[in-house]
Amino acid sequence: MQTEKKIKDLRQVVKAARSQGKSIALIPTMGNLHEGHLQLIKQARDRYDFLVCSIFVNPLQFGANEDLGAYPRTLEADRESLEIENCDCLFLPSIEEIYGDSLELQTSIKVPGLTEKFCGSSRPGHFDGVATVVTKLFNMVQPDAAFFGLKDYQQFLVIRKLTQDLALDITIHGIETHREESGLAMSSRNNYLSEEQRQQAANLYSCLKDCAEKIAAGNSDFEQLEKAAKKALQKASLKPDYFQVCDADTLQPPSPVTSHFAILAAVYIGKSRLIDNIRFERS
Ligand code: PAJ
Repeated sequence: MQTEKKIKDLRQVVKAARSQGKSIALIPTMGNLHEGHLQLIKQARDRYDFLVCSIFVNPLQFGANEDLGAYPRTLEADRESLEIENCDCLFLPSIEEIYGDSLELQTSIKVPGLTEKFCGSSRPGHFDGVATVVTKLFNMVQPDAAFFGLKDYQQFLVIRKLTQDLALDITIHGIETHREESGLAMSSRNNYLSEEQRQQAANLYSCLKDCAEKIAAGNSDFEQLEKAAKKALQKASLKPDYFQVCDADTLQPPSPVTSHFAILAAVYIGKSRLIDNIRFERS
């Protein structure tokens, strides 16, 4: 696996792969790779010839009170995992390489409709930071495809929308959430949890599943279901930030014609904030 730190070297490597007729896939990450990230690499490996994985802890998507400084950095272990998965190129830029000498950009990518609610309102500016860095990475690599996890479902929709709106010729793949046996979605932020908190955190997915089953069985009293789920979360020592049933394509409240549902949830536990979601059909 080649490691490139400079955009111009990355472009050379990708150009060489392309001139050999290879298809290119990009997997953007912030490192501290776990089995969830590796699922994206495996799926990309099955479908594309040349894989670029980026590791960049993007300061633009962290709020002032968030964990940017403390974000786990495990480069050597990440490199080993990527080697095992047969990744072709690791892009490992510095902050200056991506943003120059100031984070006060004049140009930024915003996807207002999809980012008003949920993590958009809890983390102001977060999705502008995500959308901007992902667009920059897309322009640096110019891949045929890019892979994202459905665990960050709102993020996935934002990226799919910006790709459509900006007419980028990139296929966006959404990969199902990889979970621990308990149901807890794998996340770098699980590192902050004690053993007891990990067990409590598993209740997030059981509440999502429970609510989804009730809706799929015909219950449409979404407000009551959300209320009951929040109560159950509190009982499990999880402090709900949001727990909301919505239309999976628009993230708006379900309408009478909604058939593709999503339930999005975020909870606080100790110093951590965990997110998860579930998607399902009801005809
Ligand atoms: P990061 O949190 O490192 O996640 C990188 C990718 O891995 C994202 O697409 C995320 O949805 C996916 N992922 C994380 N946990 C997963 C799990 N348990 N199962 C499946 N996929 C999972 O998300 C980001 O980084 C950043 O916002 C980024 C897109 C790189 C932009 O900076």
